[in-house]
Amino acid sequence: MLNWDEFNEDETSVAEQPAKAAPASAVKPQPAPAPSEEVKESSASYKVAESDRLARARKSLEELDVAAGLEELEMGAARIEVDDKQMINARADLNQLVPFKYEWAWQKYLDGSANHWMPQEVNMNADIALWKSQDGLTADERRIVERSLGYFSTADSLVANNLVLALYRLITNPECRQYLLRQAFEEAIHTHAYQYCVESLGMDEGEVFNMYREVPSVAAKSAWSLKHTQSLARPDFNTGTPETDQELLRNLVAFYCVTEGIFFYCGFSQILSMGRRNKMTGVAEQFQYILRDESMHLNFGVDMINQIKIENPNLWTPEFQDEVTQMILEGTELEIAYARDTMPRGVLGMNAAIMEEYLHFICNRRLAQIGLKEQFPGAQNPFPWMSEIIDLRKEKNFFETRVTEYQVGGALSWD
Ligand SMILES: [Fe+2]
Ligand SMILES: [Fe+2]
Repeated sequence: MLNWDEFNEDETSVAEQPAKAAPASAVKPQPAPAPSEEVKESSASYKVAESDRLARARKSLEELDVAAGLEELEMGAARIEVDDKQMINARADLNQLVPFKYEWAWQKYLDGSANHWMPQEVNMNADIALWKSQDGLTADERRIVERSLGYFSTADSLVANNLVLALYRLITNPECRQYLLRQAFEEAIHTHAYQYCVESLGMDEGEVFNMYREVPSVAAKSAWSLKHTQSLARPDFNTGTPETDQELLRNLVAFYCVTEGIFFYCGFSQILSMGRRNKMTGVAEQFQYILRDESMHLNFGVDMINQIKIENPNLWTPEFQDEVTQMILEGTELEIAYARDTMPRGVLGMNAAIMEEYLHFICNRRLAQIGLKEQFPGAQNPFPWMSEIIDLRKEKNFFETRVTEYQVGGALSWD
């Protein structure tokens, strides 16, 4: 067991050992030795100061205000059993990854890591030429590129901030936290990708990154997401009561099912439709990789929500199901408003009415994934090619410019 008294003894014994000779390069001319009384005095006052510092350090360690996973070590405590683990409000040590309880979480961490990619790998030359040419894109197509980069350039920061500043500490399972850390890095890559597109195309970065505070259809979505992060981000927020556990579930629905599961889908389908028409293929390729990551984020969130429901059935009351259904409908309406704003006319073989049907289809999917009743019975998917892109794994790139399976390329070689 770690013991401060033993630490003290060690310190004394080290102090009593004769000083080792300094290496030759460290030998410097020394001033004449001080009178022995002065040496004693300064040595004593040094020791007092040191012990005072140590006392303060020990006191502050004892007073450590702990969050889950930061507790004092309980020496000799029993080893973790799978049954000790749970999604929220777990008492088991959170610093021990294994034994695994939620294999789906670990598998997603492995799959996400195998899909690693970086924005600079995508060639943007054709996009730059098209964007800068006078008649390369129509005004409606340019509007779609600008609005997409405007929304997404800050949306992924909202998601990342929710992960690290609100959600992470409340998910009390190490394998889920492992995936959350991977997801947080992917969100950083996505923000990087949007920045890289904006920089490559020579767009006004202030206009793009501030769009979520300037353009109402973009601002409405961002404000809705932000509303659902604020209570969890309060330092005094904790789960442990039905009300606070439901608040955590609201956050998961707002971010995984709505923000990443609905708010991304109009912009993604618009840009990918552009890529299919051989326009802005570099931007479209970036969006394709992002969509692949996002579909995994969404599936992970759905798995977390369903697992929390299984472990805490008392939270999933009829009233709460109504409330969550309402949230998903609100998100769908905001995305339809965004579709109307970004497509005042037909463009790229789409229009706002077709997008509305697609979003009704997506809304049904999100509701069904967490066990809720579909609200738009019979809505069809007018963009089956979107599902094909989402399902891409080992196939060749959708735009046939490169192989999409980014299995980790940088394996270390020790030869
Ligand atoms: Fe993202
Ligand atoms: Fe995401």
